[in-house]
Amino acid sequence: MKTALITGATDGVGRVVAQELGKQGWRVLAHGRNRERGETLVREIEQAGGKAAFLAADLSSLAEVRQLAEATKKATDRLDLLVNNAGIGTTGDRPGRQTSKDGHELRFAVNYLSGFLLTNLLMPLLKASKPARIVNVSSAGQQAIDFDDVMLTRHYSGSSAYCQSKLAQIMFTVDLAGELKGSGVIANALHPSTYMNTTMVKQSGVTPMSKVETGAEAILQLALSPELDGKSGLYFNVMNETRANAQAYDAKARKQLRDLSLKLTGLS
Ligand SMILES: NC(=O)c1ccc[n+]([C@@H]2O[C@H](COP(=O)([O-])OP(=O)(O)OC[C@H]3O[C@@H](n4cnc5c(N)ncnc54)[C@H](OP(=O)(O)O)[C@@H]3O)[C@@H](O)[C@H]2O)c1
Repeated sequence: MKTALITGATDGVGRVVAQELGKQGWRVLAHGRNRERGETLVREIEQAGGKAAFLAADLSSLAEVRQLAEATKKATDRLDLLVNNAGIGTTGDRPGRQTSKDGHELRFAVNYLSGFLLTNLLMPLLKASKPARIVNVSSAGQQAIDFDDVMLTRHYSGSSAYCQSKLAQIMFTVDLAGELKGSGVIANALHPSTYMNTTMVKQSGVTPMSKVETGAEAILQLALSPELDGKSGLYFNVMNETRANAQAYDAKARKQLRDLSLKLTGLS
């Protein structure tokens, strides 16, 4: 049975992707923080005839990311799809600079670094399940990383924090494509849709402009479309391939980010 791990499946667009994959006969490993919402989702998928399990982890802790990777390996011996979707928006619960359990700037940690670690830890399983896919749910909101102030201790804004974390996901995707050449695993990134009607958007005080279903369709295209077979390292604006911020194609910047990420996650 094809199996997918979707992070941030307890709410928003991730929830719709999880439900849809369940309907299409996938086994869904639905990750989130909120156990009640996670268990409700699992019940809904099962009532619709699908198979699902909830995996809890707070991605603001690298130790919990490691536990999530272990729980995934315990739950399944194959992983056909990993969707790194969990994230926090420009404002989240509180304004002002926040840090993760490991002391890293919070959006960089949750939106990007956790996915970097999780993907690397699950890579042997993804490779063993080939053909497999990785989908990184990024955003059109992108800002070049200032490598002198990655943790934004000098020039913080919620928007900068969000936008640099979202570009970091795309830089990681481009790197993955290179590393995974010939492995049978592809990795692509996307902006799912603009201002969908989700908690993240409502928290930022913006009036929603699109539906979660639109973003879910875009994510599912990268997850399932046969047209993407063998294509990797691409960035999509909703349904269409396009160019990301120029820093995504700067090999030197990507190496700086990769070296830093390996160090921060203890993978190097
Ligand atoms: N909404 C938009 O218009 C829009 C536009 C562009 C890109 N995106 C991207 O799409 C993705 C999903 O966004 P959304 O709007 O669907 O968000 P959402 O409704 O706010 O849902 C966010 C999900 O991420 C999880 N999450 C947040 N912080 C977490 C943490 N520390 N540890 C573990 N899980 C955590 C939440 O889990 P719990 O509910 O269990 O806490 C929830 O399942 C994000 O990556 C976002 O950047 C969204």
